[in-house]
Amino acid sequence: SHKVIFDTDPGVDDALALYYLIRHPQIELLGVTTVFGNAPVAVTTRNARFLLEAWGHDAPVHAGAAGPLTPGMPGEDFPTHIHGENGLGDHPIDMAPSEDPDTAAQFLIDQIRAHPGQIRILAVGRMTNLARALQIAPEIAGLVRDVTLMGGAFRVPGNITPAAEANIWGDPLAADIVFGASWPVVAVPLDLTTRTFMDRAALDDLGRRGGPGMQLVTDLSQGYVRFYQAAGYDGMLVHDATAAVFLTDPDLFTLTSGEVRVLSEGIALGLTLMNPEDRKGPLGAWEGRPRQRATLDGQPQAILDRIAQVC
Ligand code: BDR
Ligand code: CA
Repeated sequence: SHKVIFDTDPGVDDALALYYLIRHPQIELLGVTTVFGNAPVAVTTRNARFLLEAWGHDAPVHAGAAGPLTPGMPGEDFPTHIHGENGLGDHPIDMAPSEDPDTAAQFLIDQIRAHPGQIRILAVGRMTNLARALQIAPEIAGLVRDVTLMGGAFRVPGNITPAAEANIWGDPLAADIVFGASWPVVAVPLDLTTRTFMDRAALDDLGRRGGPGMQLVTDLSQGYVRFYQAAGYDGMLVHDATAAVFLTDPDLFTLTSGEVRVLSEGIALGLTLMNPEDRKGPLGAWEGRPRQRATLDGQPQAILDRIAQVC
């Protein structure tokens, strides 16, 4: 089985990814670390606890970063028009936001040291907690099994600016640190997740016929679906759950590899750039960076079918 730590900012599509992880028989969820992003960290932490409690799962939740590492980044504008005021589509939540101390980076470090070569990190929010863990204990890069992240837009436009995808845009320096560490990273970017579109009928059907906790996911996704409907799509993109499927079914994905850099200033703030395998010559800012991988392509329908089978 896979020992997974889930780093997340729930977040409607984060909730579906979390449900996939706890439903999958081959996944052992060791803990959840939270980060600001879709909502302030006190809210995303509360949301992670709320979901796990609703589903009867006892994985520990560790609050993480409240803001980005990137110097000069403005305070966040939280995407309440997408994920609701409470981060879970304004589904009623009878639990107060959690004003916890930031223990996420240390939890990651402790777990990685306790299980050398075994931990798989799935990061579907800003990369701040991962970057902080690397800054505190750089040797963890050699001790994790791998890092799978939802983020980036390599050959397609971003979803925050023409250049940048949300998880990278929210802390580009952290993302650049994560791509630059000598641990194996697989990015699951918008190139693929703008094609893993679950239509409303499939979402509703899964709520009725899926596992006992799936109706909650369908319910809290309704506001998110309305956001997509306003943009002309009847359904929703399942960004984060697509990255979760990569952990269990990598054969459904097509990988491209190369050194990755992230722009942390300027008009293309948050742009992810890959130097692909076949490019030779002077590398400049790519020099000495490890090769990482990104799922620029894959089988969207098979990935959606897998989510429906598991959830
Ligand atoms: C990513 O941004 C967040 O809003 C979603 O939860 C997902 O992780 C998509 O760009
Ligand atoms: Ca997310």
